[in-house]
Amino acid sequence: MLLTGFDREEILKRRTFAIISHPDAGKTTLTEKLLYHGGVIHEAGEVKGKSGTKSATSDWMELEKQKGISITSSVMTFKYDDLCINLLDTPGHKDFSEDTYRVLMAVDSATMLIDVAKGVEERTRKLYDVCRYRHIPIFTFVNKLDREGKTPLDLIDEIESTLGMSCHPVTWPIGIGSRFRGIYNRWTKDVTVYDQRREDDREVTIISTTGIHDPQLDALIEAEILKQAREELELVEGVLPEFKLDEFLNGKISPVTFGSAKQNFGVDTFLGFFCQFAPGVQPRQVRGGTAATKLKAEAAEPQRKAMDPLDANFSGFVFKIQANMDKRHRDRVAFLRICSGKFERGMKIKHMRLGRELRLSYSNQFIAGDRSTVDVAFAGDIVGVNDTGHFQIGDSVASSGDVYFEDIPKFAPELFSRMSVRDALKRAKMQEALRHLSEEGAIQLFIDPLVGAQDPLIGVVGELQFEVLVHRMQDEYNLDVTLMRAPFTVARWPRTKEGKPVDQLKGGFTIYRDAIEQPVILLNQEWDLNWAKRENPDVEFHTSISRAR
Ligand code: G4P
Repeated sequence: MLLTGFDREEILKRRTFAIISHPDAGKTTLTEKLLYHGGVIHEAGEVKGKSGTKSATSDWMELEKQKGISITSSVMTFKYDDLCINLLDTPGHKDFSEDTYRVLMAVDSATMLIDVAKGVEERTRKLYDVCRYRHIPIFTFVNKLDREGKTPLDLIDEIESTLGMSCHPVTWPIGIGSRFRGIYNRWTKDVTVYDQRREDDREVTIISTTGIHDPQLDALIEAEILKQAREELELVEGVLPEFKLDEFLNGKISPVTFGSAKQNFGVDTFLGFFCQFAPGVQPRQVRGGTAATKLKAEAAEPQRKAMDPLDANFSGFVFKIQANMDKRHRDRVAFLRICSGKFERGMKIKHMRLGRELRLSYSNQFIAGDRSTVDVAFAGDIVGVNDTGHFQIGDSVASSGDVYFEDIPKFAPELFSRMSVRDALKRAKMQEALRHLSEEGAIQLFIDPLVGAQDPLIGVVGELQFEVLVHRMQDEYNLDVTLMRAPFTVARWPRTKEGKPVDQLKGGFTIYRDAIEQPVILLNQEWDLNWAKRENPDVEFHTSISRAR
C-alpha cells in the first residue's frame, strides 16, 4: 500500500545529500552558508571554520575542535524552497574514508566541492569514485572564486579528463581572483554582480540581460575582463554538452556552478539549482520482500527489487552508530536512514538481523551536537534512535515483513595495535569500551585464537583513527591506555568461490576472527598474501566483507 495525502507530500519534499571534497576546499564554509540560507543559523559567522577559537556546527567532538577536522558525520536539516533538505556531513580526512563511504550509502545525491586554485584533488577523486560506483548524481560547486585560480575552461577540462564525467556549466564566472566581477547564469541570463567592497553579504545586485553580449554589461565591467568571459562562453556553448536530466540522474553529467562560499556568493544560485534538480527519495534495493513473497519475488526478479519510498511500510537501515554523543548520559545513537514510509516515535519495528520486535522509543534529529526529539519523520530523513546495544551498522528494520537492504561493507584495515590500560583493574572496562567502539565502526577488532577475546587486535585504516581512539578512551571512558603496534599491514577474509567462510588454510596461516566471528587472516605484507594465494588456489581473499550476516 502506498502513502497518500500529507504523508506522501512530505516524502516528495525530501532531498538528502552530502558534500564531498578534499580538506580545505571549503566544505565547512559552504555548509554554514547553506544553513544560513535555510534559516537554521541567523548570522553568517555563527558557525565558523575551524582554526583557533571557532568551532563548526558539524564538528562537535572535542578532538575535532582541537584538531580542526571533521571526524564524525552528522546530519543537518533545513528547509528551502518548500523542500526539506537533509545534509549529511562527511569527514574530510582520508583516515575516515570508511565512515564517508557509509554516509554516501545514505544519500540520494552529492555535491562535489572544488577549490578553484587546486582543481580535482586526490580525496575528491576517491569520493567521486564511490559516488560513481553507486550511480549517485553529482552537482559541482567550484569555490573560492574570490581568489586567484585556474581558468574555468581549464577546470572543466580537468574535471572531465580526471573523472571521466561530462560537465554542464550552469553559471560562468566573469573573471576570477582580483578580476572577479560576477557570475553569469547561462540558464536565466542573469548576471550577479560581485562587489569587492561588499560588507553585508546579503546585498547582491542582479542584472537581467539578453545574454553575455548585452551592452548593459559593458558599462559595468572592464572591457578586457568581459571580453575574456565572452570568448570563454562562446567556446562553452559550442563544445560542452547540454544538460540532460537522465544523464545527470545516472551520474554521467554534472551541472557546475561557481561561487565563493566565504563571500556567500553564488551559494543561492547553487541552492536554487539544487532544489530544481536534486533527486527526491530514491527507491532502495532490497534483498527480499515480505516473508511470504520473498522467494517468489527473488525468483521472478532476482536483482531489481526496490523499496518504494512511498510504501506505507516503514523501513530503513543503520548506516552509522555513534557512542557517547552526550557524555553525561553515556548513550549510543544508531543513525537510521528511512527508506520508505513514515516513522513515528514509539513505533514497533522488526529488527531483521535479530529477528525480533523492538520499540523505537527515543528518536532524535541532530543539528550537529544539538538534538531535538522527533515524533514523526519520513522516507529520506535520518533519525537517531537510542540504542541499548541492539544495532550494528548495516542492520535493516521495517514495520512489517522481511526487508533487507544492501549490505554496508567494511574494509580491510592496514594498521594494527594491541591496547593496554595503565590501571590493570580496568581491563574489563577497556574491553567493553573497545567493543562499543567497534560496534560503532570506529575500529575493527580481531581475535587471536591463541590469546582470546580479552586481548583483541585493533585494526584501523588510517593513523588518525588510533589517535582518536586513545583520546576517546580517556575522554569518554576515563581510561588511560597505550597502544603497541602489531606488525600486520594486510587483512583478508578467506571465502570459497561460493562465498562461504573458510576456516582452514594450507601454509600454516593463523585464522583470526573478526567482531562478527568471520574468519580472517592478518599478514605482515603483500608477499605473504601472494603466498597464501599460491597455497590455496581455490580460496578467494576478500578485502571487504558485508556486515550483515
Ligand atoms: P573544509 O571544511 O573543506 O576543510 O574547509 P573550510 O570550510 O574550513 O575552509 C578552508 C579555508 O578556506 C578556510 O580558511 C575558509 O575560510 C577558506 N574558504 C572557504 N571558502 C572560501 C572562499 O570562497 N573564498 C576564500 N577566499 N576562502 C574560502 P582558514 O584560513 O582555514 O579559516 P578562516 O580564518 O578564513 O575562517
